[in-house]
Amino acid sequence: MSRIVEVRGLCYAWEDGTEALRGIDFNLDAGQTVALLGPNGSGKTTFALHLNGLLQPSAGSVLIDGVAVRGKHLAAIRRKVGLVFQDSDNQLFMPTVLEDVAFAPLSAGLSPEQATDKAIAALRQVGMESKSGKAPWHLSSGEKKRVAIAGILASDPLLLVLDEPTTFLDPPGQRSLATLLAGLPQAKILITHDMPFARSLAAEAVFFQEGSITARGSLEQIVTQFDW
Ligand SMILES: Nc1ncnc2c1ncn2[C@@H]1O[C@H](COP(=O)(O)OP(=O)(O)O)[C@@H](O)[C@H]1O
Ligand SMILES: [Mg+2]
Repeated sequence: MSRIVEVRGLCYAWEDGTEALRGIDFNLDAGQTVALLGPNGSGKTTFALHLNGLLQPSAGSVLIDGVAVRGKHLAAIRRKVGLVFQDSDNQLFMPTVLEDVAFAPLSAGLSPEQATDKAIAALRQVGMESKSGKAPWHLSSGEKKRVAIAGILASDPLLLVLDEPTTFLDPPGQRSLATLLAGLPQAKILITHDMPFARSLAAEAVFFQEGSITARGSLEQIVTQFDW
């Protein structure tokens, strides 16, 4: 089984001195899905931002597919690790859905034709090809989330990291997102407070408290242990 994520002793302090991560050890293998649970402010988002180098550790290391997340590796790592932000409005920025999804493959050096082919294939995977000519900001929250996921799939990632993906979705939208994700082969890290959603995708969970991972085990074991 190949190791996709290997985090050792990760510490991070924000500029104002907030110690958001205090020595995180974490690993994830190909095809695994794990839920990140824990109270608001416990460091889950800060952790996620290290997985593709949007933040750099104050101490410790992050390896993706065996490669350190820094310096000259960053562009390649950002293609391997797709981060889906909580609010899709922070993720979608091109005039049309198709251009948005084609943006990453174009930036990676594919020709416009190849990038468009990649984008169409990714939009098909998330059931959004019929919306390819629309402006992203005219879509519903669930549709925006799908387009954000397509934008990541267009780079053929190894890992999907989703930060509270069901927050702005209605119950049918939450279920259909779970169905979509269940059909994707990538390893997944799901940050969520939505237990039906977590249960439908992840057998395993870790629990964050005050910048540390205080437990890892089956989702049900963690839920029981922390009365979550
Ligand atoms: N941009 C920031 N500047 C300073 N402190 C921050 C910033 N973002 C988050 N924090 C702090 O870092 C800690 C962890 O936050 P976060 O990673 O967002 O937690 P979670 O995602 O688990 O709710 C909190 O104390 C939070 O206030
Ligand atoms: Mg968060």
